[in-house]
Amino acid sequence: MSRPKVWITRLIPEKGLDLVRDFADTEVWEDELPPPREVILEKVQGKDGLLPLLTDKIDAEVMDAAGPQLKVISNYAVGYDNIDVPTATKRGIMVTNTPGVLTDTTADLAWALLMAAARRIVEGDKYVRAGKWKTWGPRLMLGQDVHHATLGIIGLGRIGSAVAKRARGFAMRILYYDPEPREELAREVGAELVDLDTLLAESDFITVHTPLTGETRHLLDAEAFRKMKRTAIVVNSARGPIINTEDLYAALKNGEILAAGLDVTDPEPIPPEHPLLTLDNVVIVPHVGSASVQTRTRMATMAAENLIAALRGERPPNLVNPEVLSCL
Ligand code: DGY
Repeated sequence: MSRPKVWITRLIPEKGLDLVRDFADTEVWEDELPPPREVILEKVQGKDGLLPLLTDKIDAEVMDAAGPQLKVISNYAVGYDNIDVPTATKRGIMVTNTPGVLTDTTADLAWALLMAAARRIVEGDKYVRAGKWKTWGPRLMLGQDVHHATLGIIGLGRIGSAVAKRARGFAMRILYYDPEPREELAREVGAELVDLDTLLAESDFITVHTPLTGETRHLLDAEAFRKMKRTAIVVNSARGPIINTEDLYAALKNGEILAAGLDVTDPEPIPPEHPLLTLDNVVIVPHVGSASVQTRTRMATMAAENLIAALRGERPPNLVNPEVLSCL
């Protein structure tokens, strides 16, 4: 029997690659940069399975180019806003993701950004390296207290609640806003449900953990920033477009909010000449929320297992569109 054909759009950790290679005829895009659109359209042709990254847009055109044998799109990420899931479902294509394994690693990074922005860690490091550190100063590099402050979590899902658990160690008051009912989780982590306006007005730290959808795009815009405390610190480790970047820049520059910590941006990557990078009160890292050796390896095996199960005709463990099973 002929082996299935698979395309992996980047060099994922070896363990995941080996699993796929043992099972299927596998092509891998080995460049550091994402494959250009025309390469995607060419490489997907005749493939039974795709294993893309969040940087690869998989829409109807790509599915058309792949052909009717395409069975599965196994995303190497928990977020899947890069995939047109309704179109995949209509065509009987399974879509899978990598939930759970990256929860704690991403929550750790959100905390690293929160702490870095609150205590001006990057600014302090630059100051020392520039030779500006002359003495201990009573007014030098004053930041904001994290302990006993109020944390506002937008989206109390897996990552949001892991962030909340960490906040308890800092004796924080924890507010959350989430259109989904999360009562049990909220009780477990000691978070109080509030409406968005209350969260914006009362939080010292606001951290975003919601998927990017039509409803959450630009959820934090000029109006939202105006509702925040002037000492508020905003953290985003979810998806860049949940924040309106121009409005964030204006709010940071004009002192409407104090600081921001970003793992994700819009555009992403953020160009070096972007005005946001002229500000000292923003810390930006290159979308590394899940970037630990252990977690990226687990994501790779999980994405491989999802892909292989689907190609075997089984239900993959992390199926995003279970409705597809009734179309098969
Ligand atoms: C995801 O998985 O969606 C993160 O953004 C990258 O790990």
